[in-house]
Amino acid sequence: MPSLNIDTLSVPEAIKRKLNDLSNSIAFDKQGRKGANGWLFFGQNLVHGQRVAVKFYDWGGDPQYHAEPQFLAQLNADTVISINNASFADDNYAYFETPYYERGDLDDQLSRGIHANLRAISMVCDVLSGLSHLHAGGLVHRDLKPQNILLSDDDRAIIGDFGSVKRIPDGHTTVPGSGHSLIYRPPESITTNSYGIPGDIYQVGILLYQLLGGSLPYAEVAWLNSRQQRQYERIEDPVDQQIFAADAIKNRITRRRVLDLHSLPPWVCTQLRRTVSKACHTDPTRRYTGCADFLARIAAIRPQVRDWRIEDGCPTRYNGNAYRIVREPSDGTYRVKKKRTGDWRHDNSFAGTSVLELVEEIEERIC
Ligand SMILES: Nc1ncnc2c1ncn2[C@@H]1O[C@H](COP(=O)(O)OP(=O)(O)O)[C@@H](O)[C@H]1O
Ligand SMILES: [Mg+2]
Repeated sequence: MPSLNIDTLSVPEAIKRKLNDLSNSIAFDKQGRKGANGWLFFGQNLVHGQRVAVKFYDWGGDPQYHAEPQFLAQLNADTVISINNASFADDNYAYFETPYYERGDLDDQLSRGIHANLRAISMVCDVLSGLSHLHAGGLVHRDLKPQNILLSDDDRAIIGDFGSVKRIPDGHTTVPGSGHSLIYRPPESITTNSYGIPGDIYQVGILLYQLLGGSLPYAEVAWLNSRQQRQYERIEDPVDQQIFAADAIKNRITRRRVLDLHSLPPWVCTQLRRTVSKACHTDPTRRYTGCADFLARIAAIRPQVRDWRIEDGCPTRYNGNAYRIVREPSDGTYRVKKKRTGDWRHDNSFAGTSVLELVEEIEERIC
């Protein structure tokens, strides 16, 4: 791969200097797209030969909330990104070197339509178990969302992007909210600009909702009602448009109108819906009290969660035999196919015509 020309990059000088230093041991070949939390570079570590990512992030701000990069590097949990090396570029920027995860992040998976009940649960358990290590160290992540959860080769969810992590000072329970990723911000970070462990629990609740197939549009206009859309279109300056949309979204967050539980697929059971709802409660004191409490709830409901997944674009249910609901291209009706050992074959013994009816019929047969 051609090497990255560090001197022509448009990044702060301190970062260029550090990149040049690090080039003694890392052959940089690529810059990641500029994200909200810093600057990201990829390359090959010449000492151990592995592909690595180096992330620079803004380290300035109030020192009482600083999460020392060296402290983060000591976190040793299977489902938290492991840090090979961490230090400072200068007084403003710190950096981490981490392994490269070639399977990408959970948002890539969601955009490919990969949803599955049991996998969603298993990913969320991975995240909660990694997060419990951060919380035990007095840290909050503040930016948990599918783009910041990487996938390991053995299909574990790994918490990444420490660019928003803050330390909760002794004697306190919160830090200021993060300005990033508005749609994931918990209500209290908007109303009182405070963020504590319940904020991370809220974000994991949204993650669970998205992994189960709940709708969460990323485009800001998608959050506006038709009257607001008309107002938005009349605004000429794009910055003013953004401010208008951000205010409308904040309003939705504080009125508990971000998640639409009706958008979850019909095979997501009531217990899972209640779990999402409680994790994302507007009142932080009514959420799960921490990762252990959230994990205990998932363990308790896990036996009732049915193995539905989207496969080849079709809702599919595994239980020894497999059933899938297919949409006939000719007339748009839904039918069931069944597979015992060989190929998928139509099963015309189902009466339902909608996905919901067919899901219910399949469940009745299996029970
Ligand atoms: N170690 C890594 N291995 C593979 N991909 C990564 C790695 N770190 C980050 N990425 C990818 O780059 C994206 C941006 O990185 P991230 O650290 O989240 O920075 P930011 O949010 O500031 O852009 C992530 O969403 C992920 O897709
Ligand atoms: Mg990120």
